[in-house]
Amino acid sequence: MSAETAHREEVGGLWDAVGELQLSFLRVHGLTPGMKLLDMGCGSLRGGVRFVAFLDPDHYFGIDSNPALLDAGYDVEIAARGLQPRLPRANLLQDDTFAARRFGVTFDMAVAVSLFSHLPWNSIRRCLAEVALVLPPGASFFASYFESPAEPPAATTWIQEPGGITTWIDRDPFHYRPADLAACAGGLPWRFERIGDWGHPRAQRMARFVRLAD
Ligand SMILES: C[S@@+](CC[C@H](N)C(=O)[O-])C[C@H]1O[C@@H](n2cnc3c(N)ncnc32)[C@H](O)[C@@H]1O
Repeated sequence: MSAETAHREEVGGLWDAVGELQLSFLRVHGLTPGMKLLDMGCGSLRGGVRFVAFLDPDHYFGIDSNPALLDAGYDVEIAARGLQPRLPRANLLQDDTFAARRFGVTFDMAVAVSLFSHLPWNSIRRCLAEVALVLPPGASFFASYFESPAEPPAATTWIQEPGGITTWIDRDPFHYRPADLAACAGGLPWRFERIGDWGHPRAQRMARFVRLAD
């Protein structure tokens, strides 16, 4: 693997397939160019490069805990497409506490692809609490995750098909029952909806959290 592509593998590979999937999914669910989008756990911009090209300039914002991935996303992927004029570098924020309020922006939609699959339940709860601060009532936060069936209620491991990835109840990559995610949003201004299969090649499912009024 060359240094030029390591940042693609680090976010899971499938660069074109999962990148295109993110944009087409959000477009079907109402994303339009004039909307401001928050990409939580944006990595090296696998979805981001598509979102930046689609959205109006300065309408894409990404957060990731890994500064090297943000640098690769901007310096390699955004630069290769000549998209720098559409994305101020300050719109990519290194933060591991999901603190999107640091942007000082109210967003129209938020997305997190392959983030919850790496997070324990309490971190997902923190993420939901933070994203609720930057979305208005009625707006949606879409988040992909690995799912385990409702029964047995505490499956320790599960093999995800297609893809054959083993997921865990208590270690990365994590799986959750829909009921676990619904409970995670308990007491927070969200309504949980299970979307389920959204065409992900490695069996991640999709959840939608709809922002409720305070
Ligand atoms: C599998 S990658 C997916 C990246 C991107 N969403 C995509 O689809 O290519 C997961 C990303 O979540 C980031 N991440 C993990 N924990 C995080 C945290 N606490 N805060 C912000 N980002 C985090 C990782 O650094 C990584 O870039």
